[in-house]
Amino acid sequence: MRRTDFILPKVVCRMGKSTPDGEKPPYIQTQRQYFDERVDFFRAPVPAAIQARTRRIVESAGLREKSRVLDVGTGVGVLVAHFLEFGVSQENIVGLDLSQEMLRGAKSRFPDVFFCQSDIADVGLPLPKEFPANIECFDVVFFNACFGNMWNQQEAVMAAVRLLDAEGLIVISHPLGARFVDSLRRNEPHIVPHQLPEREKLEALCSESNLAVVSADIQDDFYLVILRKKAEWLETANGTAHNE
Ligand SMILES: C[S@@+](CC[C@H](N)C(=O)[O-])C[C@H]1O[C@@H](n2cnc3c(N)ncnc32)[C@H](O)[C@@H]1O
Repeated sequence: MRRTDFILPKVVCRMGKSTPDGEKPPYIQTQRQYFDERVDFFRAPVPAAIQARTRRIVESAGLREKSRVLDVGTGVGVLVAHFLEFGVSQENIVGLDLSQEMLRGAKSRFPDVFFCQSDIADVGLPLPKEFPANIECFDVVFFNACFGNMWNQQEAVMAAVRLLDAEGLIVISHPLGARFVDSLRRNEPHIVPHQLPEREKLEALCSESNLAVVSADIQDDFYLVILRKKAEWLETANGTAHNE
């Protein structure tokens, strides 16, 4: 497709709006094409200060060798390097992205890690059969530097919850924080239609998705939120239900 053939979806961004205006398919297509065209920028070395913050984000999840990890919007695999550094075995890592070119970049850096081209909202259980056979669900789902890009943040979180093991975590993060994401949103609302959720929005996301906030480090220039799946309503032996 030539650049001139490409019609941007109509996007009107208002604070708190859950989806951009317009249809989802052209939005996703815009997102995919945008990152396909900018892969060289993302392949450039990450500055040391951002690397250090990204490392801190990954460290916060307490990963172990056997942790099954899903990296949503993996890009060229910036987080994957840190998963490996913290000892996660490569067959337990899945990187997911809309952009074929970003995934090509990730695969060239990590040939033994499984990468999948998909919208997070389209992945459900049972996992697609091409996923690694040893992974039935995930212990941690990361959204790093991509949560403002989701078509609908609630939909993305719900999709992640469905993929989590009982005690699973969701990490939503950005090494440059909400102020940076907001500047992207103002400059390119068709690519970054959302802000990173403030505490109140976070609580709303959680209550819709049976999640609890484990920790929230929300600063202008750093964002790291960890959510945990709440215990399901359990049927006790005598038939009464209780929650944790
Ligand atoms: C700014 S890049 C961030 C890459 C990486 N997480 C990092 O930390 O460098 C955002 C990525 O999110 C991807 N993305 C956006 N919406 C997505 C969705 N719904 N499902 C999967 N990936 C998505 C884009 O294709 C893009 O590669």
